[in-house]
Amino acid sequence: MPGLEAHYAARDIEGRILAALRAAGLNPEQRLAPEALGALDHFHTGGMRASRELLELARIRAEDRVLDIGAGLAGPARLLVSALGCRVDCLDMSPDYCAGAALLNRLTGLDDRIDVHEGSALDLPFADDSFDIVWMQNVGMNIADKRKLYGEICRVLKPGGRYAFQEMTAGDAATTHFPLPWATDPAESFLVTADEMRSVLGESGFVAELFEDTSDVHLSRTAANAAPAAPGQLGLAVFVDDLAQKAANARRSLEEGQVRLVRGVYRVR
Ligand SMILES: C[S@@+](CC[C@H](N)C(=O)[O-])C[C@H]1O[C@@H](n2cnc3c(N)ncnc32)[C@H](O)[C@@H]1O
Repeated sequence: MPGLEAHYAARDIEGRILAALRAAGLNPEQRLAPEALGALDHFHTGGMRASRELLELARIRAEDRVLDIGAGLAGPARLLVSALGCRVDCLDMSPDYCAGAALLNRLTGLDDRIDVHEGSALDLPFADDSFDIVWMQNVGMNIADKRKLYGEICRVLKPGGRYAFQEMTAGDAATTHFPLPWATDPAESFLVTADEMRSVLGESGFVAELFEDTSDVHLSRTAANAAPAAPGQLGLAVFVDDLAQKAANARRSLEEGQVRLVRGVYRVR
């Protein structure tokens, strides 16, 4: 998928992150607190607040082994480890994001509890029944083959294991405002409706514990013209090109009902 690889490329991401940390007044020579990085490393709708809410809903325990698929810079993984003490494996197809994740794991002193793997969600490099929890935020929109994706998630989960996710789904109208945070153009965006998602999850061996549409809550909580991070403030623009345009298009798509925001917790049958 060359287009998608380009979409999630960020040359010299380590240098960019270190420069951004210093500009924000953080010293990368000293151990950083994961919560100080939240504006930079939660690359999904609703940011760190959405991750905290999903953490509560997923009822993850300290002894659980967690896989974060499409983990990005691993901000959610560091939140889980610091809040719960669990172990997390992160998997992402982007070598740049994996390098950024590994750097931030080291700078926060959490690299002994988080492993970063470069790879594909459609060919998970893990044995059957490896994980108690699979976690995924704003990734499925990039993946056309939902059956294969959910089949892989089901395979690596232990019996009774849970899949906690947040995703964009298709709305009532076609998606027309590009670029979006997850896709430069329509060839990289693979949205299904919420009904289709639930139905494929069911056919893949999952039962729902929770499924909810949080589009309206999200829109009511966030300002229409939220100011981008000021110079010197941490933000996604450190590694995401055209962020202001992508964020504005995502909001417009939600407001116009072209996309919906959903989250859920499903258990392996
Ligand atoms: C919008 S970002 C979300 C990152 C992270 N989940 C977060 O919330 O901060 C989507 C991520 O999914 C990854 N991704 C997309 N398709 C993938 C695939 N087929 N296999 C593995 N990673 C994938 C991208 O490289 C990117 O890091």
